Amino acid sequence: MEIARNLTLIAHFIGLAMVIGPFLLHMRSKGGYPFNWVLSGTVVQLVTGLLLVGIAEMRLADDPDIALDHIKIAVKSGVALIAFVAALLGFLRQRKGTFTNERKLMPFFHTAGGLAIVDVFVAVLWPGLVMG
Ligand code: HEM
Repeated sequence: MEIARNLTLIAHFIGLAMVIGPFLLHMRSKGGYPFNWVLSGTVVQLVTGLLLVGIAEMRLADDPDIALDHIKIAVKSGVALIAFVAALLGFLRQRKGTFTNERKLMPFFHTAGGLAIVDVFVAVLWPGLVMG
């Protein structure tokens, strides 16, 4: 179980890099936003995040005194879901080519990247996922 958790956590960090890396590189660009990377990264975050929750539930199932902080999980999931929707809308609009001026896609790019950073704050600053 430990190896499954570790590998999933590594994938979770790679997903994080896929969103935040391209966001930081292109946050001041006026076009050519790499929505494909950001969108894929948010999908990786949602999938690996849910897997991590499942793995934690399994590890804790035997101990009735320990519970997962479901409010933290709900907040993280909500933030990640909005980031995913913003990335998806930006990706679809960019692919359609409706905007001659790609700068109009910037709010979608900033919402997705900014919310991913918000989720890092939630992950690290909100005390533990596991409550004793
Ligand atoms: C953009 C989205 C996300 C980012 C940037 C992110 C970031 C992080 C970071 C930095 C950690 C390590 C720090 C810590 O353990 O407190 C972490 C752990 C974790 N994340 Fe996320 N996360 C995201 C989405 C999600 C989602 C949607 C879920 C659940 C549905 C989730 C569930 C978890 C769990 C369960 C852990 C702890 C793993 C463990 O220690 O066993 N994450 N996340």
